[in-house]
Amino acid sequence: MSDPSRPSSSDVEIRVLTPEDHDRQWRLHALSFGEDLSSPPPAGSEPEGDVRFGALSPDGDLLGAVTLRPAEHWWGGRRLPAGDVTDVAVQPEARGAGVATGLLRALLEAAHERGAAVSALFPTVAGLYRRAGWEVTSTLTTVEVPTHALARGGPAPGLAVRAGGPADLPAVAALYEREAQARSGMLVRPAPPTDRLPEGVDGLTLVEDDGVLVAAASWHRGRGYGREAVFTVRDVVADTAPAARTLLGVLAGWAPVARNLHLRLLRNDAVAAALPVELARVVDRKVVMHRVVDVEVAMSGRGWPAAVSGSVVVDLTDDLAPWNTGTWELAVSGGQGRAVRTDAEPVARLTPSGLAALYAGAVTPLGAVRTGGAQVLGDERAALAGLDVLACGDLVEVLDYF
Ligand SMILES: CC(C)(COP(=O)(O)OP(=O)(O)OC[C@H]1O[C@@H](n2cnc3c(N)ncnc32)[C@H](O)[C@@H]1OP(=O)(O)O)[C@@H](O)C(=O)NCCC(=O)NCCS
Repeated sequence: MSDPSRPSSSDVEIRVLTPEDHDRQWRLHALSFGEDLSSPPPAGSEPEGDVRFGALSPDGDLLGAVTLRPAEHWWGGRRLPAGDVTDVAVQPEARGAGVATGLLRALLEAAHERGAAVSALFPTVAGLYRRAGWEVTSTLTTVEVPTHALARGGPAPGLAVRAGGPADLPAVAALYEREAQARSGMLVRPAPPTDRLPEGVDGLTLVEDDGVLVAAASWHRGRGYGREAVFTVRDVVADTAPAARTLLGVLAGWAPVARNLHLRLLRNDAVAAALPVELARVVDRKVVMHRVVDVEVAMSGRGWPAAVSGSVVVDLTDDLAPWNTGTWELAVSGGQGRAVRTDAEPVARLTPSGLAALYAGAVTPLGAVRTGGAQVLGDERAALAGLDVLACGDLVEVLDYF
């Protein structure tokens, strides 16, 4: 039975918040996430493009809020429009009455209107988002490596190292984009500043091959020089194995004064291949979830493995994004994908979160069946083989927390 003391979702008005709502929205955010209540940021300091939605009681009280962050992600070599989610918070007294779910519904409508194909978020509670169609797809993991375990040594033949400055940031950004675009789920980052280093970055270490940047690390030195001193690498990218070894050789020089190196790793990149990963200890792990916002744009807008060719007919019911509901033929061929409505017989029924997990390469078809994201409707072998087409993309990875 519903609790009569809580607002029912039909009493709640959901609308875009305006600058006049800034203070109370910030207070709700600060209370929810344990931030300093005494120093609210000025209105207008939020990232450009963010859209905030609020849920208001009949008396006009702000019961909850959520932020839509329009973005682009690299998926298989193509830029895919995304509507990411951040800052979900509901007043403690209004929780458990569907306020957050109503806000996510409004956010999805707005993201869809803006052409978003997918959506990512970092959950504090996965169940809320799974019910709303997101699914756990990856983790953003920070590891600690003993700095003295890195191999010291000068530059590999033909390579040179130097300290970088703000003027190098566009070249460093281009290095990141080359790495990111071949993967799936990585953020298309906004253009960096060129007049200063980003906040929290104390230095850049660059490796060049005949004046061309081939590896870079941006880093935060951290405090002190004792046993506990931590040197944090914000970003590290290398085009080649010698470039990665050269870069890590420079970072090894910090060992006497910063014994612990923290960094975020990508799977199978040149940096991970040059690190003593057997000594890496996970110090932070953030779960990331994805959702398909629009199945047609999601299928056609990303790159797919060029060697894969096939199709599958699935049934999809999506209560929060009803434009996805229906029977679809999902097809991949020659690196292109498409979703077309069909009257053909579906071989499987997908939940929105099952679709998300398969699309992100985060689960096999059998795994999707076992976790309830997919239900086989006819012959199991045919259904699982068909769903392989949807799950054929590279596993999602992220480097940016928001
Ligand atoms: C998490 C939060 C936003 C949920 O808001 P809410 O309005 O209570 O959520 P809803 O009523 O729409 O919940 C929908 C479903 O999500 C799940 N859910 C919500 N809160 C949950 C929690 N704390 N633990 C586990 N599941 C939860 C439940 O399955 C719920 O369905 P049910 O009530 O039928 O069981 C709210 O508790 C909050 O503001 N918490 C503090 C800040 C925070 O964690 N924000 C999320 C940042 S990612």
